[in-house]
Amino acid sequence: MKHEQLQEEAERFIKACYDELSKPASETVSRLEQIRTSIAERGTYEHTAEELQHGARMAWRNSNRCIGRLFWETLYLMDARSAETEDEIAEHLFRHIEYATNGGRIRPVITIFRESSGLDSRIRIWNHQLIRYAGYVTGDGIVGDPASVELTKRCLEMGWRGKGTAFDVLPLLLQIGNRPPQLFPVPDRLVLEVPIVHPELADFGTLNLKWYAVPIISDMRLEIGGLHYSAAPFNGWYMGTEIGARNLADENRYNRLPVVADFMGLDRTRESSLWRDKALVELNAAVLHSFKERGVSIVDHHTAAQQFIRFEERENKLGREVTGRWSWLIPPVSPAVTPVFHRSYQDKVITPNFFSQDGKLPDPAACCPNQPSGIGKTSVF
Ligand code: ARG
Repeated sequence: MKHEQLQEEAERFIKACYDELSKPASETVSRLEQIRTSIAERGTYEHTAEELQHGARMAWRNSNRCIGRLFWETLYLMDARSAETEDEIAEHLFRHIEYATNGGRIRPVITIFRESSGLDSRIRIWNHQLIRYAGYVTGDGIVGDPASVELTKRCLEMGWRGKGTAFDVLPLLLQIGNRPPQLFPVPDRLVLEVPIVHPELADFGTLNLKWYAVPIISDMRLEIGGLHYSAAPFNGWYMGTEIGARNLADENRYNRLPVVADFMGLDRTRESSLWRDKALVELNAAVLHSFKERGVSIVDHHTAAQQFIRFEERENKLGREVTGRWSWLIPPVSPAVTPVFHRSYQDKVITPNFFSQDGKLPDPAACCPNQPSGIGKTSVF
């Protein structure tokens, strides 16, 4: 029964993939035959590097919440399916960070670890992103990113110690199957960051805001042709509003609009002064300016929206329907002045795609009673 479903999904994917890659029909037929045999004999099959790369690109193309999909065909695959140990996995992740960062000229990259049919061999990266800031609960509130409080707690329990600033990069928390999870601090030299300054407002830098250059989502499951890749971190570059209108601005994130408004001398006693809106716009201008000045790839939301429309047009021309989730596609700043706001999208999920997976952190005590801390070391970095 399960085999039949896998067989079906595999067939559907191979046909679409080989068709898009303009393979001759004979090649598709023989590949399908090979897969049928493999599933019959071993209950599973393996993707070729080419299938994996194109499948991952299709998954990006099908990501309903992503406005940056025009560039789906440029996604670069780092095939890490041979990685077996936690150390090897960490080394691949460090290489991903370095290659994707590329000194600021960010390259869209995905690293794919081995497929996980059985839970006992499942590779999990417990971090939401490979680079993200810790959030500490202290006597006077949260220091750092409130979104990271739970993971930070777990890392501290496992023996990790951060500097205690608002911008401490969390270590990687890696786990294979039911083995004890292990921590791997990300080497400083791999983490490119951008201090936030403003093109006109002198001393904006005294607000001590910064953000990291590359968002590398690492907790989603990639599904291609019925196979599940539980560890397949991927990145593009930032759209400015993600940082300026959400990460630094949301009340349940860094909540910095009040300090930006005070720095600008705005009247916060009345909502109708629109201090929030004014602070938001200048903070977003600062983020875009700072990244550009440092030579780090970033896109503003107007350009990104136009690129998305081009993506839609291109897809339609090729006879493919573009699915999307409108509430995610519209930018959080000035949505109605982008064309995306005035269109509608069907939020239909098609595969290949990325899926969220159970986010419950492993309990280190339950996993390894006699191993208080598992801070790993890797040789290469
Ligand atoms: N919104 C997330 C963040 O601010 C990143 C999501 C992926 N974004 C991207 N541009 N690829 O960190």
